[in-house]
Amino acid sequence: MLTGKRVLLIISGGIAAYKSLELIRRLRERGAAVRCVLTRAGAQFVTPLSLAALSGDKVYGELFDLTDEAEMGHIQLSRDADLLVVAPASADLLAKMAQGRADDLASTALLATDKAVLVAPAMNVRMWEHAATQANLAALKARGVLTVGPNEGDMACGEYGFGRMAEPQEILAAIEAALGLPGRLSGLRALVTSGPTHEPIDPVRYIANRSSGKQGHAIAAALARHGAETTLVSGPSQLPDPPGLRTVRVETAQEMLAACRAALPVEVAVCAAAVADWRAAHAAQHKLKKDNGAPAALELAQNPDILSELSQAGGQRPSLVIGFAAETERVVEQGRAKLARKGCDWILANDVAPGTATFGGESNRIHLITADGVDDWPQMTKTEVAERLCRQIAATLGR
Ligand code: PMT
Repeated sequence: MLTGKRVLLIISGGIAAYKSLELIRRLRERGAAVRCVLTRAGAQFVTPLSLAALSGDKVYGELFDLTDEAEMGHIQLSRDADLLVVAPASADLLAKMAQGRADDLASTALLATDKAVLVAPAMNVRMWEHAATQANLAALKARGVLTVGPNEGDMACGEYGFGRMAEPQEILAAIEAALGLPGRLSGLRALVTSGPTHEPIDPVRYIANRSSGKQGHAIAAALARHGAETTLVSGPSQLPDPPGLRTVRVETAQEMLAACRAALPVEVAVCAAAVADWRAAHAAQHKLKKDNGAPAALELAQNPDILSELSQAGGQRPSLVIGFAAETERVVEQGRAKLARKGCDWILANDVAPGTATFGGESNRIHLITADGVDDWPQMTKTEVAERLCRQIAATLGR
């Protein structure tokens, strides 16, 4: 909870400003008092009226508004807060912060504070990747400014990449961490598998699948944000290691199993990896040549089932073992069968038929299958799936 905590929320210009409305709602639900500063550019995207209605407080905009200065000077504005949050943080405002400029209320409040500052950058991917933005961010981080996001995904401008503002739930968890509050899952140990496995045929070829690791990594990152001591066991993935947790990188199913065993004991295990069910029975030491007897058929051997093994780990069994079911037809029915067969507690069944883009895409549609029945979640981003799963885990474990 954030009861008694005061957040000064600075909203700069960007389409992501609409997400700040949701952030205010969630902060207030958790007991925080929220006061908003809206920049001139931010006011092109959200209105002072909606911010005032949601925050239940006056919204501050102009530096030289005499009434504001008489009632509440800009110094007082930041002094009154426990934490300053900039969401969205535009490239322009980050640049001003890095240079120490103070030519409007937002930048002045940010310069006049000795409180912790958390920024949630949001901008076009090229702006985000630009050396100037990265240098500004590095300077801010070196001064202790905290960051959350941005995330990768489709952008309002039609491009794709890093630059989407973190989701309100992610910002909320970052606020709790910035205020030194224990997350809902603190004290809990968690293990997450993610990504594909690569099963070698010879030194240059392997059996694999289309998993990107986005769903598993998002779950591991969310568990860590909520305070769980998290180990992510990842197959080969292009994604960077998420912050705040331990990542163990592996190639094959057998290596993944060994890394999972080594991570025990944990209270929660989530198997989101797309583990290859089979491997080449005899991986060649040297590259197979098609002209000197390369096999016409590949002999396969079955891989260990990590989810089943964790579910039947006896005294080492996590209290909550959660698996996925990736299906292309009769998704819920087959998910139910997997729940029974593997002996786990929950299955998150998802449709991976061609056209769904569940493999590699940004969003997912989950059917949560438990002993109590099926809960159909709407289509949402993989980060939102991760957040919802964390909430469900917290509620189930009475946190
Ligand atoms: O990585 P992304 O691109 O974001 O895509 C996400 C995803 C589609 C990979 C993910 O949402 C998902 O469905 N993961 C499970 C993929 C899978 O292998 O499903 P399955 O139905 O074949 O396996 C069922 C469960 O058993 C899974 O929890 C799996 O991790 C586990 N398993 C399977 C085989 C094996 N040898 N060991 C396992 O632990």
